Amino acid sequence: MAWSFSHLDPAVAETAYDTLGAIRRGCPVARSGELDGFVLVTGYAEIREAARASDRFSAYVDGLGAAAVVTEMRDAVAPMFETDADHHHQWRRLLQTFFTPAIAAAQAQYVRAVCREVLQELIPHGAAELVGAYTRQVPPLVIGRVLGLAELERVWLSEHVRALYSAETLTEAQQAGRTYADFLLGQIQQRRAHPGRDLLSAMVNAQVDGHSADDDELVKMTMLMVAAGHLTTADACATALLQLMEDPPLRERITAEPSALEAFVEELVRYEPAVAATGRTVISETHLGGMPLFPGDRLLLAWGSANRDERVFDDGDVFRLDRDRDAPQHLGWGAGEHRCLGRHLARVELRVMLTELLRALPGLRLQPGTTVRRTFGVIRGVAALPVQWEHQ
Ligand code: HEM
Repeated sequence: MAWSFSHLDPAVAETAYDTLGAIRRGCPVARSGELDGFVLVTGYAEIREAARASDRFSAYVDGLGAAAVVTEMRDAVAPMFETDADHHHQWRRLLQTFFTPAIAAAQAQYVRAVCREVLQELIPHGAAELVGAYTRQVPPLVIGRVLGLAELERVWLSEHVRALYSAETLTEAQQAGRTYADFLLGQIQQRRAHPGRDLLSAMVNAQVDGHSADDDELVKMTMLMVAAGHLTTADACATALLQLMEDPPLRERITAEPSALEAFVEELVRYEPAVAATGRTVISETHLGGMPLFPGDRLLLAWGSANRDERVFDDGDVFRLDRDRDAPQHLGWGAGEHRCLGRHLARVELRVMLTELLRALPGLRLQPGTTVRRTFGVIRGVAALPVQWEHQ
């Protein structure tokens, strides 16, 4: 039986986890007739198996990702993100030195300074739409700094990504994508001529199997690095704020007991992972969850569904701050070789963004009459968060 589920259909967002739960309980590996046909993987064990078996499932996949990110670079294969086995290992080894827990912790001061600057502007207004005014303001500057961009270039990067991700038509997205790609190409060429000690220089000048990546590969890889680094934390922060506004006792506890923030962020990434679904392509004839699969079949791994699988988690559909620490590891950061490289940074960013906002905007609440619309796709978040707070 084929389901008609598409993660890219905006209509699935509100009921995504009810629908995915029903599919998972019926058939944790199912076919969907949408998007030219793909295999929807919703069970914990099956998703983990597919993510870990890079000899059977490639990370390169066509047509299941966020279209706007790749329109310009459709034919290029992004090193690391979309490569497998030894090629992937070599890239990952070269880049992981930029993503250690210590390096992530060292970004906290910068994140805090950016948050305070943004919040200082907001405080006197007493009301704002927080996705546009806060959660999408901070992370692009942070990933710009991680890449090694100078201060003004980080501001340009933020403007380019906002133009790209807020485009309302394909033509607008293509234009914004072209301008953004040209900007990145300029940064890449600069670092080829004058390498620094930053992440982007390491990407540009890396030699893997005796080759460095070409311009198209590097532009696509940098676009994916920026997307991985900012869409995720922006949406995770918005989802976290919604969770806290909808649950006053939870918010009181987090405010009174800042050490609980660590558990809060981890449970949030289990319950509502910002990376909701990513793809794989079958390399060799195989089976998954009893379903025969053939080379070229495309899989969609629904990470958030794995995290609610009743075969693994008690009350998976419930947000529980005191979830048993000995419970199996959730898959909100992925699994296997492509497991999130930026998770230490994401944790730091989220903790700082939430702490600073809760401190600066006392009495934070949704504006009366607001219905918050959730989004779903490769990334899961909320479309807008109109709020108000007490101010003098
Ligand atoms: C709450 C925030 C985040 C979540 C939930 C998240 C989740 C994930 C997931 C599920 C994957 C695996 C995708 C797959 O296997 O198909 C992934 C990969 C990745 N993430 Fe994150 N991520 C977050 C934030 C970040 C940040 C801030 C960065 C910083 C650059 C980052 C960088 C990466 C990279 C580079 C990969 C690809 C690793 C590889 O291919 O080996 N992520 N992330």
